Amino acid sequence: MSSDPILQPYRLKHLTLRNRVFISSHEPAYTEDGMPKDRYRAYHVERARAGVALTMTAGSASVSRDSPPAFGNILAWKDEVVPWMKALADECHDHGAAVMIQLTHLGRRTRWDQGDWLPSLSSTGDREPAHRAFPKLIEDWDIARIVSDYADAAERMKAAGLDGIELEAYGHLMDQFWSPLTNTLDGPYNGPLDNRLRFAFEVLQAIRDRVGPGFIVGIRMVADECAEGGITRDEGVEIARRMKASGLVDFLNIIRGRIDTDAALTDVIPVQGMRSAPHLDFAGELRAATDFPVLHASRIPDVATARHAIAAGKLDLVGMTRAHIADPHLMAKVLRGEEDRIRPCVGANYCLDRIYQGGAALCLHNPSTGRELDLPHAVDRADAPLSVSVVGAGPGGLEAARVCAERGHRVTLHEAAGHAGGQIRLLAQLPRRREMLSVVEWRVAECERLGVTFRYNSFADEETVAAESPDVVIVATGGLPRTEGLFEGDDLVVSAWDILSGDAQPGRNVLVQDGAGDHAGLMAAERIAATGASVEIVTAERTLAPEVMGMTLTPYMRELQKGDVTFTPTWKLIGATRAGNGLDAVLGSDYGAMTRHRKVDQIVVNHGTLPLDDLYFGLKPLSSNLGEVDYEALIAGAPQRVEANPEGRFRLFRIGDAVASRNIHAAIHDAFRLCRVI
Ligand SMILES: Cc1cc2nc3c(=O)[nH]c(=O)nc-3n(C[C@H](O)[C@H](O)[C@H](O)COP(=O)(O)O)c2cc1C
Ligand code: SF4
Repeated sequence: MSSDPILQPYRLKHLTLRNRVFISSHEPAYTEDGMPKDRYRAYHVERARAGVALTMTAGSASVSRDSPPAFGNILAWKDEVVPWMKALADECHDHGAAVMIQLTHLGRRTRWDQGDWLPSLSSTGDREPAHRAFPKLIEDWDIARIVSDYADAAERMKAAGLDGIELEAYGHLMDQFWSPLTNTLDGPYNGPLDNRLRFAFEVLQAIRDRVGPGFIVGIRMVADECAEGGITRDEGVEIARRMKASGLVDFLNIIRGRIDTDAALTDVIPVQGMRSAPHLDFAGELRAATDFPVLHASRIPDVATARHAIAAGKLDLVGMTRAHIADPHLMAKVLRGEEDRIRPCVGANYCLDRIYQGGAALCLHNPSTGRELDLPHAVDRADAPLSVSVVGAGPGGLEAARVCAERGHRVTLHEAAGHAGGQIRLLAQLPRRREMLSVVEWRVAECERLGVTFRYNSFADEETVAAESPDVVIVATGGLPRTEGLFEGDDLVVSAWDILSGDAQPGRNVLVQDGAGDHAGLMAAERIAATGASVEIVTAERTLAPEVMGMTLTPYMRELQKGDVTFTPTWKLIGATRAGNGLDAVLGSDYGAMTRHRKVDQIVVNHGTLPLDDLYFGLKPLSSNLGEVDYEALIAGAPQRVEANPEGRFRLFRIGDAVASRNIHAAIHDAFRLCRVI
């Protein structure tokens, strides 16, 4: 048997888990009608098949009607959940993985204008900043109802054949009672710890009465709110000890911090550039203090850290959740001794941020995650090898080369620069975004393994490409910053890319016009503000950088506020003229015909990219499909068969920003779904 610490089996009550790695509860928002149907099941089964020990399904599955989904949560208060969960559990069990589910009442962490439009409730009347519903103060009849709802939901999960459940007690109703910051009740549910824990123990007792002593029941609990007036570490340890002493709980899943604001949540679940495993030692201290099974997940993205967590006795089970979103086959690769082939989670947080914007969890650089039914992770080999020329080694071009090579084709990849990476190299200029380079490095390593021929410093024109006599050409040449569009003064501005690349030195008094609302504008502003310059970000949007999303925005805001950057939404740059030694920036607004002026010495514009498409249009007449893509076939996962020009010498496709300014996920998704059937 392997001596690898994370491959050791673990016994939790009666349940033997095959190793020490689990997927912690997370709601990917793949539900349909509140149910974990085929898409949801396929997602978990993919990871179960690859070898994870335990998958904690759902995130915050709702036990009551007045806990409506905040982000596509499973409705555990409905009886129809039982067959869906049973199908999921059965299939994961067939692959050797244990299955549990997280149950909760969200309390004030949701909205009242969802589901049945019932009022949100809590042990406080204060609203949670992140969800913004003012809750009603919970009453005695609510407590009785919700306690019994928990027991009903637990019973449903037992009936579905799950191995256990976990209750959510961080930022939700249960610990809203616990925390002095969110409990303003009178009487038996507030005051001393006994009182604040009363609701939790009533729930646990009701669950036990219903599911019996044999069923596994755990709690994912905050053990230190890290906030003035909140639950302290000492109180957290005491709560954990009482959980153990009650005999009602079988494991603890430790959380440190609060989640009521985007910023607080980001410290609980750190994103790229933030520390790895920031709460691991703390979870280990709880394990030592309670001598009880402890689970924990918080940015443990790599196998080495997971191994350390187990070997050092800090955890019994180590959560690698986003790591499994990025690479569902992580455990299979560990088992095969192919750790170096694991697709790394780069902490971009596209997955988690999307669910808070009403989308489904998608991985920035794994397009198959969440699309397991239509876009399987595995790439089949083609019947006959073809010759494929890819132009451009940004994320889209690299993905195209990788997938074509997986298909068994002979692939040549041209890149005008001396290295791969495209726009990602610019992003990585900001030290805390350096991890993005792994999106490139993983693909380069896979391409090298698969025998792709790299031609760096190769500015491929029509002649270069045609000389290779390819069967297929994929143009992934990306784009260049779009800076035109002012009524006058286009020549007076620099692009956000100019600032990031160092082609333009930051000014002292700078206006950043953010027309795209994505990373580049904020990154440029951050870089300029770091020099001590005065910076104002102007955007026609109602909010700041809408494409950057909640948690990813946190590190930017911390830096930008430090630099005293000012934000002016609903205004946009419409013109620029020279004024003495400086510039006069003219601002307009969609809301009226008025203008404003700013005297600055530099104007930086972020307005997406314009496709670099000369090569594509040059090759188009030479191609057999004249560049046409059959969208029906593309979406259905069928090969492209357009033959618009019988004289054509190759089939031609373009992907990513060479088509239109989008994002990394779009470029990789374009490449993957096209190339997996070439
Ligand atoms: C898409 C997504 C949804 C999540 N939803 C929940 C949730 O509903 N309940 C919960 O306790 N944690 C939730 N989490 C947090 C994860 O359980 C985990 O704590 C977090 O991702 C940190 O672990 P990691 O760094 O291994 O990903 C979610 C995470 C993601 C990525
Ligand atoms: S989107 Fe980013 S954080 Fe989420 S799994 Fe993918 S790489 Fe990791």
